[in-house]
Amino acid sequence: MEIDVFTLFPDAFGWFQRQRHVTNAIARGHRLGYVNYRDHTPLNAGQVDDMPFGGGAGMVLRVDVVEAALRARYGVDPVSLAADRRVIALTPSGRLLDDAFVDELARQERLTLLSGRYEGFDQRVLDHFVSDELSIGRYVLAGGELAAMVVCDTILRKLPGALGDDESAVQESFSPALGGRVEYPHYTRPAEYRGWPVPEVLLSGHHERIARWRHEHSRERDDQGTARTGEDARGRRAGG
Ligand code: ADE
Repeated sequence: MEIDVFTLFPDAFGWFQRQRHVTNAIARGHRLGYVNYRDHTPLNAGQVDDMPFGGGAGMVLRVDVVEAALRARYGVDPVSLAADRRVIALTPSGRLLDDAFVDELARQERLTLLSGRYEGFDQRVLDHFVSDELSIGRYVLAGGELAAMVVCDTILRKLPGALGDDESAVQESFSPALGGRVEYPHYTRPAEYRGWPVPEVLLSGHHERIARWRHEHSRERDDQGTARTGEDARGRRAGG
């Protein structure tokens, strides 16, 4: 898989790029690249943004700047790009990222992530260059870089060989293997700590009983989560 992140702050990805699942994915031939809008701006003095027409606070990432960066990377008119690859703008109002959306993206051969800054993108970027808008939550980040890292993180860890044990990504919270529910509780040594024991069944070595216990506790945790948020978590997922 090939992921390109367009950003004004490629240096922000230094820490992320060194994480084990990312280096594993790259060692297996996947690619994660960065394009700095500023390196391709047709404007003077590295300008990339401008004041919003109609007035108001903040600055808007210009459509000509985004076009220049996309053209520099792909050598085509970005209007035709979305036919060949998912071009995803990171915006607070986009489609909410969830496990099903991550699975969908992890199946793509090529992905482009556009990070915004300031007040976001000129609407014409979203209307003409982009196949999807994606949000990592209903709050506003100072920029799309953290959102891009979240998206890359969730995708890359699902690729075969990225995690130490591929099973980790199979039976985890929200996965089909757990019926979309949250994961069961985990325990490790010591078996007892400050009088807090590990559930006996997990020490029993009895695989069937352990599987049943995990299933029940996944269900229980999910119901508690549902009660806390006052929403039907599974219904929400099914509705996309
Ligand atoms: N850019 C700013 N806020 C964002 C969010 N919540 N999700 C994705 N991109 C963003």
